[in-house]
Amino acid sequence: MEFSPQHGIGVIAEGFDPSSDEDVKRVREAVYRDKIVVLKGQEHDPAAFLALGKRFGEAEKYYEPVYQHPDVPEVFVSSNVVQGEKRVGVPKTGKFWHSDYQFMPRPFDLTFIYPQVLPTRNRGTFFIDLCKAYETLPEDLKAEAAGTTATHSVRRYFKIRPSDVYRPLSEIIDEVDAKTPPSPLPTALPHRHTDETILYLSEGFTLSITDADGKERPELLRALLEHTGQLDTTYEHPAIHLQTYEKGDILVWDNRSLVHRALHTATDEPTVSYRVTVHDDPTANR
Ligand SMILES: [Fe+2]
Repeated sequence: MEFSPQHGIGVIAEGFDPSSDEDVKRVREAVYRDKIVVLKGQEHDPAAFLALGKRFGEAEKYYEPVYQHPDVPEVFVSSNVVQGEKRVGVPKTGKFWHSDYQFMPRPFDLTFIYPQVLPTRNRGTFFIDLCKAYETLPEDLKAEAAGTTATHSVRRYFKIRPSDVYRPLSEIIDEVDAKTPPSPLPTALPHRHTDETILYLSEGFTLSITDADGKERPELLRALLEHTGQLDTTYEHPAIHLQTYEKGDILVWDNRSLVHRALHTATDEPTVSYRVTVHDDPTANR
């Protein structure tokens, strides 16, 4: 297996063999160091894709069944394709800055995306490295962020499911809050596998920052998000990396260190991708 750097964040891996312990070890090291690894020339059915993900940790099924692959529930399906009467997966997922499961007490460590049907235009995912964001934070903001807590929730982006039709909105909101209560984590979060600190915030899921006295700090949240580049609606901020892919690529990323945002095609071109998410340290719960 050969690595080569790519423009922006991440590296490209040619010849990755998921059955090789050595390859798995090297990709794991690369993903913590370089944050994104593109595995080229991969050919797997959903079960084999899940097996590949499991080489890196414990796979977790998405908590909402509507996203699950009908045969391999640990595979999350993002799709705008309708097969006959049946829709498999959910369309237009992730069109806002977030990291996967950030609103849960135990966010995913690694995300694997395997595009199946690619649109011809506007394909890709935007990424921002939150370790770099912390590293480049002015000292006064670093000092302000120290000791604060960021609270994350799925509330603003929870997607109404087909089964929710005709249900009162208040009942759905209560159910979302009961199933996924707001989840607090330190704003400056130590990385488990490197000596970096993550500025662990997203425009989509972070509801608030509170200081050590429990006081809400909306202006601090805004200043920190601004610094990361997540409030730039032109996507020209230097911290924003656009990752493109082609058929046969599997994208692996360090989901703790990065926020991402899908770039969805404006047309109705068919788009399908599979995702597997894993916890890389089953003994740790955060
Ligand atoms: Fe995502």
